[in-house]
Amino acid sequence: MLDRHVAGSVPAKHHIVFRDESGKLYHEEAHTRMGFDGPYTLLYHVNEPHRHSEWRPWTGGWERPVAEAPETSQPLRRRHFKSFDMPRSGAPVSARTPVMFNDDVIVSIVRPTAPDPVYLSNLDGDELFYIHHGSGIMRSTLGDIRYERRDYVFVPRGIKYRWIPDEGVEQYWIAFECLQDFFLPKQWRTSTGQIRMDAPFCHRDFVRPEFRGPLDEGIRSFVVKRDHVFTEYVQPWSPLDVVGWDGSVYPWKFPILAFQPRAGLTHLPPDWHGNFAFPGGLICSFVPRVVDFHPDAIPCPYPHEAVNCDEFLFYAEGNFVSRRGISPGSISFHPRGIMHGPHPGAYEASIGHRRTDELAVMMDTMKPLRIARQTLSFEDAEYHASWMP
Ligand SMILES: [Fe+2]
Repeated sequence: MLDRHVAGSVPAKHHIVFRDESGKLYHEEAHTRMGFDGPYTLLYHVNEPHRHSEWRPWTGGWERPVAEAPETSQPLRRRHFKSFDMPRSGAPVSARTPVMFNDDVIVSIVRPTAPDPVYLSNLDGDELFYIHHGSGIMRSTLGDIRYERRDYVFVPRGIKYRWIPDEGVEQYWIAFECLQDFFLPKQWRTSTGQIRMDAPFCHRDFVRPEFRGPLDEGIRSFVVKRDHVFTEYVQPWSPLDVVGWDGSVYPWKFPILAFQPRAGLTHLPPDWHGNFAFPGGLICSFVPRVVDFHPDAIPCPYPHEAVNCDEFLFYAEGNFVSRRGISPGSISFHPRGIMHGPHPGAYEASIGHRRTDELAVMMDTMKPLRIARQTLSFEDAEYHASWMP
């Protein structure tokens, strides 16, 4: 969560009388995290936010990730999935293909072709999206975020929102559903929570939602997702009937190219590219940059085994010189237990390079990742053998 933000009209203090011009009372909604102990946002509604006229099971949500069978995952190997072959279909709330997951995070590919017909309130996770292709609006009770290619869009759990992709524009996103919590890496914050001046990003890089006051799109339903069960609630009014809010829980976007990369005398480990974190994981942004400046530096990553981590890597743009058979949209999975590194020849060939134009999103997790059965038909079965002579 970021610093406190205020939008629209709010009363002078929490929990006091707040009326419209006709004298009608507004209704406060306290949206809190970690019980009542964590970050929070207070919203002011025209109508009672906790009233509904109908509720029922809803079957339009995306599929729960299902782990591949143990015999499919063995023997242990490096793996490659071609996400660009994954299907395009429907609204974002139904168009996710789960890729890999554990108890802390679920990673999916989203390739929607239509706007969401309902607002979603995802109580299972804080959601970070990386927009590989696409543009449009993420609309929430707290305002709109206009998104473009190369943006990250963050939606905290429980915020009601829907996607309105621009018509005729290809949409191709990664979704990280962080099941425990989500934060900026703690080493980049001061004791008051301010982003440090030596962090690889600053407060100004985060774009807050644009708030326009109460909005009625004619949609009366919001869908709550809890333990991957979707329940529809119907209200007699628009769930976006908010006149103002303040707090530190709100959606934002962060353009990946706002990340300020580091270069060292010799190769720096991925921690230096850490952009976002969750308990048990780190999400890194690899952006175009100059590389190591020691005269004998080897800019290519050294063969490595981070023995506590599984690694997910999405190759977004650029020429991935260290890996053969990899192209934009490739997802590699390097599990702990097998050392990985450049393909034969790439290590030596990188000597003398001064720049890289790679754009990639990486995630390291402390708990083993399981591959979703839904993604197996997009696997490149030859990948593991590609390190052999
Ligand atoms: Fe790695």
